[in-house]
Amino acid sequence: MNATVLGKDATQVLLVEDDAVQITLIETLLLGNRRDRFAVETANLLSVAQKRLETGGIDVILLDLGLPDSQGIQTVRKLHECAHSVPIIVLTGSDDEDMALEALKNGAQDYLVKNAVDGPSLTRSIRYAIQRRRNDQVINEQGRRLQLLMESIPDLRIYFKDQAGCFIDVNPALARNYGFNSPQKLIGKTDFDLFSSEHAEAAREDEQTIIRTGQTIAGKVEKETIPDGTTRWALTTKIPLRGEDGKIIGTCGMSRDITGLKQAEQQLVETNARLTKAFGDLLKLHEELKETQLQLIQAEKLQSLGQMAAGVAHEIKNPIANLHMGIEYLGDYLLDRDEQIHGLITDLKDAVHRAETIIRDMLDYSAAKDLTLEHVGLDSLISQTLRFVRYELAEARVSVVTRFAEGLPAIPLDAPKIQQVLVNVFMNACHAMPDGGTLTITTGQTVLDAEEPEDEGSSVRVVAFHKGEALAAIEICDTGPGIPADKLLHIFDPFFTTKARGTGTGLGLSVVKKIIELHAGRITIANAPEGGARVTILLRCAP
Ligand SMILES: Nc1ncnc2c1ncn2[C@@H]1O[C@H](COP(=O)(O)OP(=O)(O)OP(=O)(O)O)[C@@H](O)[C@H]1O
Ligand SMILES: [Mg+2]
Repeated sequence: MNATVLGKDATQVLLVEDDAVQITLIETLLLGNRRDRFAVETANLLSVAQKRLETGGIDVILLDLGLPDSQGIQTVRKLHECAHSVPIIVLTGSDDEDMALEALKNGAQDYLVKNAVDGPSLTRSIRYAIQRRRNDQVINEQGRRLQLLMESIPDLRIYFKDQAGCFIDVNPALARNYGFNSPQKLIGKTDFDLFSSEHAEAAREDEQTIIRTGQTIAGKVEKETIPDGTTRWALTTKIPLRGEDGKIIGTCGMSRDITGLKQAEQQLVETNARLTKAFGDLLKLHEELKETQLQLIQAEKLQSLGQMAAGVAHEIKNPIANLHMGIEYLGDYLLDRDEQIHGLITDLKDAVHRAETIIRDMLDYSAAKDLTLEHVGLDSLISQTLRFVRYELAEARVSVVTRFAEGLPAIPLDAPKIQQVLVNVFMNACHAMPDGGTLTITTGQTVLDAEEPEDEGSSVRVVAFHKGEALAAIEICDTGPGIPADKLLHIFDPFFTTKARGTGTGLGLSVVKKIIELHAGRITIANAPEGGARVTILLRCAP
């Protein structure tokens, strides 16, 4: 084997030729070329060429088909087998088109006739052959990578479809995912063979849009329903599939099964909803706790207030009694002596009387007294109490209407205490109607046919009644201005009064409430829709 070295970066040519004249001729053609530089090695036998190719470094083979150890097309095939990446240009004496075609089919890049070739055409053929082989190599490499992707990726479903939506290629992951043991089984099928017609129809519309517009549909979450009704979720991207000329010939898509992810997302949403609800419940509980705490603080405050009031009242009760007696004595002694002194004594008597009332109320409020219960008819108790206040009512020109229910049984109560309640309520109504009005007192009886609904909020509910309980009701309505909503919340607080200084202590309703609760009853005060205040007292018919 001979070599002609023409320098660095020269194209390495292996000339497989046994005819010395031809070798010289071709070398002359190559060396006479100004554009490219060649280094030519020669091999006179196929076996010599094969051996040389094993060591590499050859850029192109110029091959004569008639060698002593090999003839014809098989020479091309054998050389191509041992050096796939090296382009082969057949240089032959006969201009045979069929033979040329056969040579190309068996791996040759070009087919030149020795007598018809000149320097430029030979070097051009070499250049093109090398470049074509490089292009092929790039394409083959890309194809190989794509093939690797298609074959090996385990969780990405890849498909190619024609314009009619038929699969022309799918990867094993897709076939496996849809229950086919080989991608081949899906070729020619459409989405209508895999999914419910509803889903297949939607997918077809997407594909037709892609084919029409050339646009990509990226990251679409699709609900896939297979014919047995099972649903799955997929994250899909679809692109147009273009032919060599750039025209759209179908679609290509990639999708990933995200059913597990979707289920986790759904669970997360549900957990979130449960957490939000739990948080809401917690907030409500917190509010209730705060409310209870406030009530406890209030109760505590009232209890200390009551104890203090009882102490003060107890201490000043006797001095006031002495004062009372002294004024009575002085009154008798000084009576009729002087008009002015008479007036003064009367004022003093009033003041002491007021002080005594306050002290009595304070003691009533603070002392958690035992009740002395007896069965009393409500009608007679109310009528008797009205007589206590008849002068005040008459003075304020308040007329009284009573509507007593018939057959109301006598109920267990502490008569003097309930009278105290009624006097307070009647006097409040009377004070609310200084220019006259009507006081209507209604009694009735009721049996609860259901558990009580939630509190409607006219005043704080302490006692709960239960289904089947018989209750006696006293309703006292006036035609006064009613009670402003912001005051309604405080009317049962001790010392809350809207009356002028010196006229009301604000203890009346506190005592009333306490007495009713001692009876395990309930009092509510609200504004009647027709105007005025409406006081409702509920007492148990049985102890
Ligand atoms: N029928 C009513 N109409 C309008 N307001 C009323 C009525 N009953 C009570 N109130 C309001 O409730 C407040 C508290 O009443 P409560 O009986 O506790 O005290 P008071 O009447 O002001 O003083 P007293 O201790 O002398 O009774 C009253 O000052 C008044 O504002
Ligand atoms: Mg009062």
